Amino acid sequence: MILDGFAPESIASGARSICAGELLGLPTETVYGLAADADNQAAIAKIFAAKGRPADHPLIVHVPDSASADHFAARVPDFARQLMQAFWPGPLTVILPRQPGVAGSAAGGQDSIGLRCPAHPVAQALLQACQGLGVWGIAAPSANQFGRVSPTTAQHVQGEFGDSLVILDGGPCAIGIESTIIDCTRGQPVLLRPGAITPAQIQSACGQRVLSKEELLAHAAPAPRASGTLESHYAPKAKVRLMDAKTLQTALDLLGADIDGAGQVIATYSRVILQSRSMKVLRRRMPDDAAATAQQLFAVLREFDAQGVKLIWVETPPDEPEWDGVRDRLERAAAG
Ligand code: TXA
Ligand code: MG
Repeated sequence: MILDGFAPESIASGARSICAGELLGLPTETVYGLAADADNQAAIAKIFAAKGRPADHPLIVHVPDSASADHFAARVPDFARQLMQAFWPGPLTVILPRQPGVAGSAAGGQDSIGLRCPAHPVAQALLQACQGLGVWGIAAPSANQFGRVSPTTAQHVQGEFGDSLVILDGGPCAIGIESTIIDCTRGQPVLLRPGAITPAQIQSACGQRVLSKEELLAHAAPAPRASGTLESHYAPKAKVRLMDAKTLQTALDLLGADIDGAGQVIATYSRVILQSRSMKVLRRRMPDDAAATAQQLFAVLREFDAQGVKLIWVETPPDEPEWDGVRDRLERAAAG
């Protein structure tokens, strides 16, 4: 059931369901989450079951402000504090040492915890209402089946979990790809998942260089399991291939006027305008701007799936830092 997330009565009833241990579809500025009380083990078990997600894959816990982070974190290093100050509320998740005995199942048994303070007004209103009822934080992975494309509208969430799930509608997500994840448990910021906030912004906010996962792996213990960091993830049903614009045009030329079977089997998504002699190739323009592309990316992949597309040919995004988040999601979709 989809409720208007901006209506005060929806927030009140959403907060009551969270307190009662129910699941709730929740908008954030990145993607929609499947929310539950972070300290309620039975409710957390429902998230893992609904998503088909392995129970040792930790969930992000959402908090209304940085003061609430201290309930979950055993320790907050100075540089992490600076990042929270600079980017919260917003699309940044910090991994911190976990307070023992708190949110253990949400953390998938890790001794760390992922914390994020979302900026979306509906998420903020819900978090504050829940806090008023004694709930410190809300665990919410992206509201999609394990391994699939994250939802960026309430309708996407309904498509994933059906009508029995209550979903707060907060409109289409403004950012469209998941938060940047920075591991703050290793003495220096480590980028676990690229997002709208870039390593350069992290560095300038805390004055420390951001290590890549590869650099970390080269000289440290393995990073905790992170499903958003599995190679094949964010996959639509269609096969995704990434190629440069010239190769993409050559592929379309080779296809000629004829493609097998009926329907729009092939779709393209590119910044350049492509020529095709086949009427059946769906051609979708990728914006020139990385943020605009991120905002529509998952919705575009879902639209192609809904149209029965079997093969999506995507122009490889530019090799520039602001495109890292989009490129990362597309590379994972192509690995699926
Ligand atoms: O933008 C977002 O982050 C969205 C919205 C709903 O907030 N949430 C999201 O959650 O993307 P999810 O569960 O789909 O991805 C969470 C990622 C996973 O890769 C998970 O493994 C990682 O965060 N993560 C969470 N806690 C962690 C921890 N303690 N250590 C390492 N990674 C962690
Ligand atoms: Mg996810």
